[in-house]
Amino acid sequence: MKDKLSKIEEEALQAVTVVTSEVELQQLRARYLGRKGEITAVMKGMGQLSPEERPLAGALANEVKDRLETAFAVRQESLRQELMQQKLASESLDVTLPGRKQGRGYKHPITQVTEEVVAIFSALGFGVAEGPEIEKDFYNFEALNIPKDHPARDMQDTFYVSEEVVLRTHTSPVQIRTMLEQEPPVRVVAPGTVYRRDSDVTHSPMFHQIEGFLVDERVTFGDLKGILTTFITEFFGSNVDVRFRPSFFPFTEPSAEVDIQCVICGGSGCRVCGQTGWLEILGSGMIDPEVFKSVNYDPEKYSGFAFGMGIERIAMLKYGVNDLRLFFENDLRFLKQF
Ligand code: DAH
Repeated sequence: MKDKLSKIEEEALQAVTVVTSEVELQQLRARYLGRKGEITAVMKGMGQLSPEERPLAGALANEVKDRLETAFAVRQESLRQELMQQKLASESLDVTLPGRKQGRGYKHPITQVTEEVVAIFSALGFGVAEGPEIEKDFYNFEALNIPKDHPARDMQDTFYVSEEVVLRTHTSPVQIRTMLEQEPPVRVVAPGTVYRRDSDVTHSPMFHQIEGFLVDERVTFGDLKGILTTFITEFFGSNVDVRFRPSFFPFTEPSAEVDIQCVICGGSGCRVCGQTGWLEILGSGMIDPEVFKSVNYDPEKYSGFAFGMGIERIAMLKYGVNDLRLFFENDLRFLKQF
C-alpha cells in the first residue's frame, strides 16, 4: 500500500511538471484526486486492510493527497503567471514607434465656395435663410410673378411632384418665404440645392444656387451695382472687369445680367467665352412691385434688389474647372485639389 502510494505520488508530481495548460492540469487532477482517481481508488481499497494497519495507511494517503493538492495548486498558479507573461509580451507596445498618419478630410469645393460667398455677404450685413427643396408652385412660380403660361414652367425644365408641388427650380422662392415672415428692412442670402430637367457638360439635374436680396426704403439700382461689384471683386479678385447688361426676369424690373471679364482669356476672346471676352455669372434686378404685392409689402414705400447665381458656375470660373460633372463624381483626385 505504501509503495503503491509513493509510486502514484512520484508519477503525479512528475506529470504535474510537464503539463502546459490549466485544462491539462484539471484533467491530471481528476486522474489522481478525482472521485474516480487513483488516490481515491487506493483509499477505497483500505477496507481490506487489517484494523491495525488502517489508521496508518489512512494517514499516509491523506498526506500524499495533501502534497498533491499543494503541487497542483502551485502548478496552477505558475501556469497562470506564465500565461499572463505571454499575454503581456504579445501585447506590448513600442511607444517609440512613429504614429500612423490619419487621412485628412476635405470640404467639398461646392461647400467651400458656398461658405466663401456667404462670408462675403455676411460681412456686408446679410443674414442667411433657407427653404425647402420640395416647394409649392406658389412660392416657386406664382408669387414670383411667373404666371401659369410662362415658358419656365414647361415640363422640360421643372420636376413636378404633383400639380401644385415641384422640386424647386431656383432659390428665389426663399425670397417669398422670408418676406412673408419678416418686415423690411431685410438683407438675406439663401444658398441651396435646386433641380431642373437638364443634363450635359454644363448642366446637371441637381445643382446649387445662392440667392440674395435686400429690401428697405429708397433702395436703388446703384445699391445693387455697388453690392454686386463689391462681391465680385472680393470673390474673383479686384482686377476683374464687371459689366451690367439689360435682361429680363419675371420677378425683377428692371433686370440685369452681370458678366465678368473672361477668366480664361482675360477678355481677348476664346472658346470658353464664345469669343465675347465676357462670362455671365448672375441674374439680378430691382424686385418687381408684383412680387411685393404677393408678400404684402407696400411697393410705394419699399424698394429692393435681388440676385441669384449658380454655385457650380462661379466655382468652375474661379478654379478653371471645365466639366461640371467633376463636382458630382466625388473622385478624390479632383476633390483633394481644393
Ligand atoms: N432665379 C433665377 C434663375 O434661377 C436667377 C435670378 C435672376 C435670381 C434674377 C434673382 C434675380 O433673384 O433677381 O435663373
